[in-house]
Amino acid sequence: MSSATATAYPMPKPEGLEGVVAASTALSHVFGEEGRLVYRGYDIHELAGKASFEEVAHLLWLGHLPDGRELDELHRKLGANRDLPDAVFAVLRALPADTAPMDALRTGISALGAAHRDLFDDTPDLEEAIALAARVPAILAAFFRLRQGLDPVPPRPDLNTAQSYLYQLFGTEPEPRHWQPLEVYLVLLADHGMNASTFTARVIASTASDLCSALTGAVGALKGPLHGGAPSKVLDMLNEIGSAENVEAWLTHALDTGQRLMGFGHRVYKAEDPRAEILRGMAERASDPAFYALSKTTEERALALLEERKPGRRLYTNVEFYSAAVLAAVGLPGDMFTPTFAVSRSVGWSAHVLEQVANNRLIRPQSEFVGPTDLHFAPIESR
Ligand code: ACO
Repeated sequence: MSSATATAYPMPKPEGLEGVVAASTALSHVFGEEGRLVYRGYDIHELAGKASFEEVAHLLWLGHLPDGRELDELHRKLGANRDLPDAVFAVLRALPADTAPMDALRTGISALGAAHRDLFDDTPDLEEAIALAARVPAILAAFFRLRQGLDPVPPRPDLNTAQSYLYQLFGTEPEPRHWQPLEVYLVLLADHGMNASTFTARVIASTASDLCSALTGAVGALKGPLHGGAPSKVLDMLNEIGSAENVEAWLTHALDTGQRLMGFGHRVYKAEDPRAEILRGMAERASDPAFYALSKTTEERALALLEERKPGRRLYTNVEFYSAAVLAAVGLPGDMFTPTFAVSRSVGWSAHVLEQVANNRLIRPQSEFVGPTDLHFAPIESR
């Protein structure tokens, strides 16, 4: 093989694009050193537990909190957009029952884009964003029931997003002790700067593709455990640990064998994730006391061990750790945790898509070429 390579690329090449500014956005920002998250000027503490998910969606999509008339209008539109075309049900029915719900969601959004070309085959706009955000929980709920051999539950337009999602999942009137914490969770997860799935959505939108394609790609990016796929693994970890006396041995073994502790560390936060702090309080109030106590003990020991093993890396609890306890308390099984993250983030993704198309330039970076450039073809007999 030739040793000749392309001329050294003159620009910096941060691994994983760390620290690279890839877009301008007015939607949200993660202040990593301070452990702060801001949506359109509002610190997350201003919104969590005070604003409804629909108010936050309006804020992200339109740039301001809605007045009463605007909020009613948004509720009406979301409520009117939860029906799925027969083709989407058929595709979901065709999936094996053991399909991961994130895969079903990725497939369902893609099928929706194909089946509803009248709605989604245009330049993405606010009406499409609302239409898709309303259908994401409906797709998940339909698959959740179909895989159990149950019929999907027809949507009820009078319910808000958190209520409607639970109603379509379980077919019973959602209880405040379930839908209220879920709503706070949805508010907390709606947007988060230039994270991997949002970047994916913006890259796809920048090619002048459609909204369903952008969100299909975003779901694929969110699924990975280094991004949104961690909370069910947190639940698995806590279930495996089982009781307080096993915490030390379990964590030590995991770190000794080079595993990452799920729910800790973050690319941008070098302080505690503010969402983790809010979710910890919710978990304490909403979850089973024994499960909360085990979570707390595990968190404390994990933080101490990470500090010992990885000094100076500033690894703190991230959003995923207490998401597990909160979503379990809401009644969701572990494999629905990351899909529920997607219910919330579908608003942020579509808001970013709208922001991207409003001032679009194709996102097309360069790579540093490190391969040879002067090889000669040899016929197969002589290789
Ligand atoms: N457990 C053990 N060690 C860790 C962890 C962890 N959770 N996170 C980072 N480290 C270590 C790394 O091994 C590395 O050590 P080294 O310097 O000795 O090689 C050091 O800390 C720095 O880690 P990076 O890989 O540079 O951090 P990066 O910014 O790439 O990763 C990430 C961030 C992916 C979130 C990472 O912390 C991680 O894997 N966490 C566990 C998975 C998780 O919780 N995912 C959810 C993230 S939140 C979200 O996206 C919604």
